Amino acid sequence: MSEPVAFQKCIMPACGATYSIGEVLTSCKRCGGLLDVVYDWGRVNVPKDLRFFSSRILVGNYSNIADVSGVWRFRELLPFISYHDPYLYLKEIVSLDGMEGWTKPVHVSSAADFTGVNRESFYVQFEGQNPTGSFKDNGMTAAFTHAQMVGARIAACASTGNTSASFAAYAANSGFLEKAFIFIGAGRIAYGKLSQSLEFGVKTIQIEGDFDDAMSRVRELGRDKGVYLVNSVNPFRLEGQKTIMYRILEGLNWRVPDWVVCPGGNLGNTSAFGKAFEELFELGLINKKPRLVVVNADGADTLYRIYNEKKIRWNKGKVDLKIIEDFYAEMEKEGRKAHTIASAIEINKPVNLLKALRALEWTDGVVEKVSDQEILDAKAVIGKSGMFGCEPASATSVAGVKKLVEKGVIKTKDIVVAVLTGSQLKDPDAIVGYHAEGLNSALDEKFKSYGIISRRFQNKPVRVKNDLNEIIAVMGI
Ligand code: F0G
Repeated sequence: MSEPVAFQKCIMPACGATYSIGEVLTSCKRCGGLLDVVYDWGRVNVPKDLRFFSSRILVGNYSNIADVSGVWRFRELLPFISYHDPYLYLKEIVSLDGMEGWTKPVHVSSAADFTGVNRESFYVQFEGQNPTGSFKDNGMTAAFTHAQMVGARIAACASTGNTSASFAAYAANSGFLEKAFIFIGAGRIAYGKLSQSLEFGVKTIQIEGDFDDAMSRVRELGRDKGVYLVNSVNPFRLEGQKTIMYRILEGLNWRVPDWVVCPGGNLGNTSAFGKAFEELFELGLINKKPRLVVVNADGADTLYRIYNEKKIRWNKGKVDLKIIEDFYAEMEKEGRKAHTIASAIEINKPVNLLKALRALEWTDGVVEKVSDQEILDAKAVIGKSGMFGCEPASATSVAGVKKLVEKGVIKTKDIVVAVLTGSQLKDPDAIVGYHAEGLNSALDEKFKSYGIISRRFQNKPVRVKNDLNEIIAVMGI
């Protein structure tokens, strides 16, 4: 049998241990480092011209889920499946019938004007359009494909809500798992997301703690009980999330933007996006890389502090781990917990921190942070487009662009793509609390606790007597 084309590799250059893709791992067995899926590119038939990938949707076979899927039509760039053999890869792929990743960058003038970037050069990549309403489906199709490949029977995830919604959809739809479990921090998840995993019928376990606690427990289950984890410590999941970047390039007619901006939570996207561009660059398929911007919420700003205040760099793998350890020890000592209305990114211990530092080095990246007030104002402005309403965490990217334009880091003429990671329908409380102050006192209190004091872009509903004259008076017609 010939040597495999894909394998897993420890990201720490001092270790560099490799493992077969048949092993189920979320960290290096030798040093505990994070793992990449790496490829022997010399033996992969990567198309010489990226435009080939678009031809699959334009002239391909519409009934072939691998050709319509926004993830698998790029299969030569994540070739851990039998990408060259249609009989095999169609059996290997676990997909929501090819529906993942039907997204492209679009102009949103309301958001462009808000940030100060020129309308013609500002785009949003609305990943809320995925089947379960967030970018997670890009990664989940890849993680489930690997889970099926290795014969996984029990799988789980810890989640702030979107990973669990996506996981539940794939678990229910693919049907090959014997057991599937979702772990969430009790009371820390937006109802739109919780409702998805409940409706899809997957066992949901609320841990008395927050996401960071749930993540720690689930990693222990992976280690001690052989449970297959689909969190972003799973390197196969991140392979799927690379395709978000391919579709951005495709939507810009394969021109490389100056900036790609994304929210920072567990830092899986940051890691995947950096890897996507680094690989394309090494393969000679692009001749420059965009600069990545990662935007934290003020109340969950570990990356911001580590990168901007502690000045920690990947430094070609020679990271000063001691400073990071001390940072976490101090956090524990002070009992500091993440706290933001952007519940999706309410995370203080991002599992992909080191991969994210590497991605920032590869792309000469920038880290910014924004307040909950800035997030909700940006969110309301994005919503005004009428098309691309998003959840709070997603709006960090647009709020972050505004801040970086004000600081002169991003120029108004730069080509900027802000990734909107999840749909507005995920978190209706965040919308009603902003626009309809006074409707629900518990919600008003919650907003105050997050420091939301102004509602600049409010569209307040009006209450009126059941009387036509009064109604007409309110309408002003
Ligand atoms: N935006 C949304 C809507 C998310 O749900 C998440 C993460 C992020 C941004 C952050 O992405 O982790 O790649 O930095 N949600 C995870 C979850 C943690 O469990 O659903 P990241």
